[in-house]
Amino acid sequence: MNVITTVAEMVAARDRLPRLLGLVPTMGYLHEGHMTLVRQARADCRSVVASIFVNPTQFGPHEDFASYPRDMERDLAMLRNEGVDVVFAPTVEEMYPPGFSTYVNVERITEALEGARRPGHFRGVATIVTKLFTIVRPDKSYFGQKDGQQVAVIKRMTADLALGTEIVVAPTLREPDGLAMSSRNVYLTPAERAAAPMLYRALCRAREMYRGGVRDAKALRDEMMRMISAEPLARVEYISVADAETLQEATTVERPVMVSLAVRFGRATLIDNIIIGGME
Ligand code: PAJ
Repeated sequence: MNVITTVAEMVAARDRLPRLLGLVPTMGYLHEGHMTLVRQARADCRSVVASIFVNPTQFGPHEDFASYPRDMERDLAMLRNEGVDVVFAPTVEEMYPPGFSTYVNVERITEALEGARRPGHFRGVATIVTKLFTIVRPDKSYFGQKDGQQVAVIKRMTADLALGTEIVVAPTLREPDGLAMSSRNVYLTPAERAAAPMLYRALCRAREMYRGGVRDAKALRDEMMRMISAEPLARVEYISVADAETLQEATTVERPVMVSLAVRFGRATLIDNIIIGGME
């Protein structure tokens, strides 16, 4: 496995890698959720590039950029174990050289949900992902449904700017009790960790109601709010039932919708989502 830290070396390497070439962008501190993306890429493609870059521009000024968990040696061992060909792990100066002033802004679908809660977040994500696509030129790029709005934003941006890579979405990998795997789960105290699976239980309750014939989006939101409000350690940031493509809040579930929520437990805000109303 080749570990590359400069853009120039990555550009040279990508021209030598046999196609199809798959890219798995990450911020490191890898867990099994990331590994499902890597395994999917390994199964689909002749060459696999994984990137590890904690991207400062997608963190707000009061967010956890400095303290975001990092463990490069462990990450490299996990990626080597999955047969990844190249790890691209640039420095911040390499990706944002002095004078850097070009950003990618995806309009509308970045305004609600995580975009409203984290101003500037998707500008940072869209910019770094565009830059990774430009440097690596992957045929296929792998993202997790765990970050559902991120998937919608990256699909929109890739189509709008004809970035020439196929976006492949992998399902959310969960702990046995339903908690979505996340690098930020390490922030949870034991009591918060014990309460956190209620997020997925609330999402599943919305799905059951839908399957039972409920089509009113507000009824789904209200029931999830009722369940989560009962937990004293949880503070709801948002609960949403929105069109899966445009992320406009829905009044009824007639097309696929993303049911999503962000709930704060102490230091950590956990996000999760499911898609309902499609082919089930
Ligand atoms: P990061 O949070 O490291 O996640 C990297 C990829 O792993 C994302 O596509 C994310 O959706 C996916 N992922 C995380 N947890 C998952 C889970 N439990 N199941 C399935 N997939 C999961 O997302 C980012 O990094 C950054 O925003 C990035 C796209 C790399 C741009 O900086």
